[in-house]
Amino acid sequence: MAAAHMADQIESLPGVGKATAEKLKDAGYTDFMALAVASPAELGDICEIGEQSAIKIIQAARQKADVGGFLSGTEVFEKRQNIGRVSTGSKALDELIGGGVETQAITEFFGEFGSGKSQICFQLGVNVQIPAEKGGLDGDALFIDTESTFRPERIVQIAEAMDMDGKEALSRCHVARAYNSHHQILLMDKANELAQEHPVRLLVVDSLTAHFRAEYLGRGTLADRQQKLNKFIHQLQRFADVHDAAVAVTNQVHSKPDTFFGDPTKPVGGHVVAHASNMRLYLRKSKGGKRIARLIDSPNLPEGEAVFGVTEEGVRD
Ligand code: GTP
Ligand code: MG
Repeated sequence: MAAAHMADQIESLPGVGKATAEKLKDAGYTDFMALAVASPAELGDICEIGEQSAIKIIQAARQKADVGGFLSGTEVFEKRQNIGRVSTGSKALDELIGGGVETQAITEFFGEFGSGKSQICFQLGVNVQIPAEKGGLDGDALFIDTESTFRPERIVQIAEAMDMDGKEALSRCHVARAYNSHHQILLMDKANELAQEHPVRLLVVDSLTAHFRAEYLGRGTLADRQQKLNKFIHQLQRFADVHDAAVAVTNQVHSKPDTFFGDPTKPVGGHVVAHASNMRLYLRKSKGGKRIARLIDSPNLPEGEAVFGVTEEGVRD
């Protein structure tokens, strides 16, 4: 109902017909502000219209939206006070990242196989559902699963360990399998649709880079890969902003250079992913099943490490 109303708003703009309004809505442009700050090229792509037409729509939206411009430091401070957080399940890990995974931001977990990336995502998928009276966001979780590593029984196990209804927790996780990088990008339309039907506060992409890595081998296509990845990450950032959602992505790296191209010890996507992620955590295995998370180049938090474990109950200190 609210979504339909907002789409009507968009349809009131000159140059936006019913079909265009639908496409915009599916892509997450549900109000004037989202359109006002859009890029003409991106809008042109989404609506299959020329760049000039896209510019006209953006200008019209800017007149309707209160674009403002500069915020006072106080206002920025207040906006940041509204940021929601999803606990990782480990106090030490939460503290390392300032209290949990932030909404309106992308958090990247990178590390080698078995370092706990997927397990943290499962835990976040349950923790985002914690009711407001218990300090949670009472939200649903979306999973874009690129390697068929989503485990429903693990969600149930983690939820029940927290005295939550396992079946209900599972029903609030919406999972899509992405078959290739193109499909992965297309799924963002569906994600935006779902976020209008459900109170989605978490989007997991596990793995962000596996398809891109597998499909674009060799130097010739590297620029193309970075560009596609860049586009996808922009869609993630917009999703985080528009829906006030936390976005968690995983990126596998190898501990030993044993492949013949590129540097496998560096996360795929290099600077493209690094710049877009607001928070980057490097995970590694340690003695006795322990795991260590290291916070890498955060804009506002000191670098540091946290020790956590993966247990039957989920992620714990
Ligand atoms: P890749 O996806 O292969 O890159 O690895 P990942 O970083 O996603 O690893 P993942 O999160 O899947 O971690 C796997 C590890 O979590 C296993 O080696 C186990 O140590 C631990 N784990 C997973 N499930 C359970 C469980 O039910 N009980 C316990 N105790 N540990 C588990
Ligand atoms: Mg995994």
